[in-house]
Amino acid sequence: MNAIDPAIHIAAANIKLQNVSKTYGKLNIIPNMDVEFRAGEFTVVLGPSGCGKSTLMQMIAGLERVSGGKIVIGDREVQDLEPKERGCAMVFQNYALYPHMTVFDNIAYSLKIAGFTKAERQARVEVVAKMLGLTDYLARKPGQLSGGQRQRVAIGRAIVREPAVLLFDEPLSNLDAQLRHDTRVELAELHKRIGATTVFVTHDQVEAMTLADRILILNKGEVEQYGTPKEIYHHPASIFVARFIGSPPMNILSVSGDGTALRLADGQAVVDSHLIGDFHVGVRPEDIVVRNSGSRPGLRAQVRYREDLGSHSIIAADLAGETLRIATPFGADAPDLNVLSFSFPSDRLHLFDTKTGRAIHGALKEKT
Ligand SMILES: Nc1ncnc2c1ncn2[C@@H]1O[C@H](COP(=O)(O)OP(=O)(O)OP(=O)(O)O)[C@@H](O)[C@H]1O
Ligand SMILES: [Mg+2]
Repeated sequence: MNAIDPAIHIAAANIKLQNVSKTYGKLNIIPNMDVEFRAGEFTVVLGPSGCGKSTLMQMIAGLERVSGGKIVIGDREVQDLEPKERGCAMVFQNYALYPHMTVFDNIAYSLKIAGFTKAERQARVEVVAKMLGLTDYLARKPGQLSGGQRQRVAIGRAIVREPAVLLFDEPLSNLDAQLRHDTRVELAELHKRIGATTVFVTHDQVEAMTLADRILILNKGEVEQYGTPKEIYHHPASIFVARFIGSPPMNILSVSGDGTALRLADGQAVVDSHLIGDFHVGVRPEDIVVRNSGSRPGLRAQVRYREDLGSHSIIAADLAGETLRIATPFGADAPDLNVLSFSFPSDRLHLFDTKTGRAIHGALKEKT
């Protein structure tokens, strides 16, 4: 059977979680999750350690049972099905290849179990190996490969059966920075080519921002926000999301409104506003505009230290008893200042409810 189209394109399926919960004894890990991973999309799941990311993946794959609710893949309810009946393939952080088998046999193994003929196996492995740049390594054993090559074998093994759903749980975390970058680019291209519905867990926000069609941010087993990378970055739904994405994270400052402006504890006005009461205001380090000494004075803060990162530098300054981080485009030639004058563009300010931490939209709009 050499008739296989070398451009594997997978018939993607959507994944719906409906009122899904997970408890371990008294521990309520996922209280109640409703989310849909759309067919053919690349979704990145982000969240702090222990928030339930792996649990979520294992429930989709069928390695953990749900405590309640339904999982629907395509048009099938799968929560009671065996893993092999669900049409998902997984690549996990500690992907174990069979050490005594060649790369070819590692990739072909699932096909063999599924009863594909030798000729079919040959044809499919060749296609996958070509796609992943493994053609020259098929006769080797995993011990004779680099970490990145092994990683690709694990991916090859996952996609060779053309699953409708691909699940990755921190698959790149064992790789060094360069390999991680290269494999990330390959994964993005692979996804474009095969189009499987992909759910990808990572701690790395660069991976999240660059790979994702949509990002799901979890906090203690609950969905904090589910949106495109742009929405998550520009319109974080909560302080939690705002601080989770961006490096350094968004500055969050306590302010109170007196009907004319939102003011810091020392009385400096952050932005004109008719709001009254206590709020949190967020501003990203890269959105702060540093003023040169000749211009009209804006907000002022005492510089504490500067980190020069080559392409730009991060200045940490004391502002009304809080630490403000400012990303400036200056590298080593940044002026050595004690007091910094700057402003917050009002269209780049984020307003949050102090009690709930949720974003308040539109309240700063009238002032630009
Ligand atoms: N078998 C188990 N019994 C009891 N608690 C468990 C079990 N498996 C996981 N947990 C708990 O469930 C919570 C979620 O774990 P999970 O592995 O899903 O987190 P995660 O988001 O993947 O974290 P990480 O980023 O560290 O991988 C953790 O608090 C963990 O201790
Ligand atoms: Mg995990």
